[in-house]
Amino acid sequence: MNRLLNKRRRTAAQVDPRVLKTPADIEKMRAAGILARKVIETIMAEASAGMTTGEIEDRAAAIIAAGGGTSPCLGYTPPGHPPYPAWTCTSVNEEIVHAIPGQKRLQDGDLFTMDCCVTLDGFVADTAVTFPIGEVSPEARHLLKITEEALYIGIKQAKPGNTTGDIGWAIQKHAEANGLSVVRELHGHGVGRAMHEGAIDVPNYAMPGTGILLVPGMTFAIEPMFNLGSKNIRTLNDGWTIVTADGKLSAHFEHTVAITTGGCRILTSAPNNGLN
Ligand code: MF3
Ligand code: CO
Ligand code: CO
Repeated sequence: MNRLLNKRRRTAAQVDPRVLKTPADIEKMRAAGILARKVIETIMAEASAGMTTGEIEDRAAAIIAAGGGTSPCLGYTPPGHPPYPAWTCTSVNEEIVHAIPGQKRLQDGDLFTMDCCVTLDGFVADTAVTFPIGEVSPEARHLLKITEEALYIGIKQAKPGNTTGDIGWAIQKHAEANGLSVVRELHGHGVGRAMHEGAIDVPNYAMPGTGILLVPGMTFAIEPMFNLGSKNIRTLNDGWTIVTADGKLSAHFEHTVAITTGGCRILTSAPNNGLN
């Protein structure tokens, strides 16, 4: 091992072993992930101009309930926030994440983000996608393409011996090489026994080799959020909705992964699509 590598690795921390999952735990997370993916795929197929975000929430909640699941979002009350009042987050255009479903009506040309977290049999999976409603601008298509690519570029770095900072670095480079900005205040997170386990943060910008050393059994969400304009954000008066400060478009893609001996397994992809 050369000196540089040695130095790099010394900056990484060990994960609290209590958050590691057994193969049986990971199978339960996979089942939750398949149900969350079913919600995403259904909403991608059905969302159209004229629907309200509240109608999308009702559809999503019905699918989760029919699959025997619940939502860890409903009633979620982290410090400084009012209780979250819905099962899903339905963010439109300049809304980055955590927009509360309601009366807002989708219009042709919007970017819509469905973020769906499911609890099933005591385990949680978290996944999100941003997609166009009707025809969107070339800039919007660029934003979607690069943000989704960044998710998979980050996932490629999710393997034993790498760190959470290696994931963040890869994601950040892809944004900046393509003229997009990275939202700094929000990041991926440990997920499994709870929606936000706390022991692991997965940044979308970082120095390589920093953060937490990845080991098999770790489970976390990777979720790049990129903006067309500036990286700055603000929170609306509802205490939840996070928007771009300049009102320009934002995109968000998220998967839950489990670190394996050879790399990682995506727990929130569709079954039999070759990704897991
Ligand atoms: N699913 C979100 C995430 O990716 C968390 C939503 S919390 C809520 O971390 F309360 F806003 F629903
Ligand atoms: Co999410
Ligand atoms: Co998440």
